[in-house]
Amino acid sequence: MGEFIPLFPTILAATKLGLTTTEKRNITKYILQNQKQFKKKSRDGVIFEESPFKLHQIPIMEPLIQKLIPAVREAIKGYGVNPEYIKIHITRSWANLNVRSSITSAHTHINSHLSIVYYPDTSCNQATINFLEPNPTHNWIPGIMDASYGKIGVFKQTKASATTLCYEPKEDTCLIFPSSLAHSVSENPSEQPRLSIAMDTLFTLKQYQRDEPLLPPPSDWREFAL
Ligand SMILES: [Fe+2]
Repeated sequence: MGEFIPLFPTILAATKLGLTTTEKRNITKYILQNQKQFKKKSRDGVIFEESPFKLHQIPIMEPLIQKLIPAVREAIKGYGVNPEYIKIHITRSWANLNVRSSITSAHTHINSHLSIVYYPDTSCNQATINFLEPNPTHNWIPGIMDASYGKIGVFKQTKASATTLCYEPKEDTCLIFPSSLAHSVSENPSEQPRLSIAMDTLFTLKQYQRDEPLLPPPSDWREFAL
């Protein structure tokens, strides 16, 4: 049997950003000092969570932003998009502080193109981030990948048939993925809170010359109160 070639893959880009120890420590310190704001209010508090959404405007995040942009540039080249034609806008960013036994159930980030997660310290080792295949019911024999068939040995998960990717992040890892990709975070079994920074983005054309599907640059927009 030859090679298995993934068709229509959803791409997860993972890279280390190379922040210095001090830069990473400053981010961790900031989150822990403000931890009351960042604790999730429910088991799945992502969309409506009450933590501040403008971390990208805080000076302490600047080293992260500066190293993140080239990483996004490389990631979108991997998606086959020429970065010369588009601009990235960080629309919101926030900190996740998962305390002991907290779980983030599967969700997507709506009104965002790419989502980004950054792990400033080793607390990320305490749980995996899990990416879910968009349509696991589309089995070539419908139902064949059901857990019950797994139990009796009819079906065995392979890398090619996996419907969930459980990713174990490391300190300084940055993950970039389409915001429409459902993801979850496993339970944090540790007393130590698990920290991460999350960001949502939108992409617009650098220059808007004719009627095109992508958004024109925000400098061309006008806003009105309704
Ligand atoms: Fe998320």
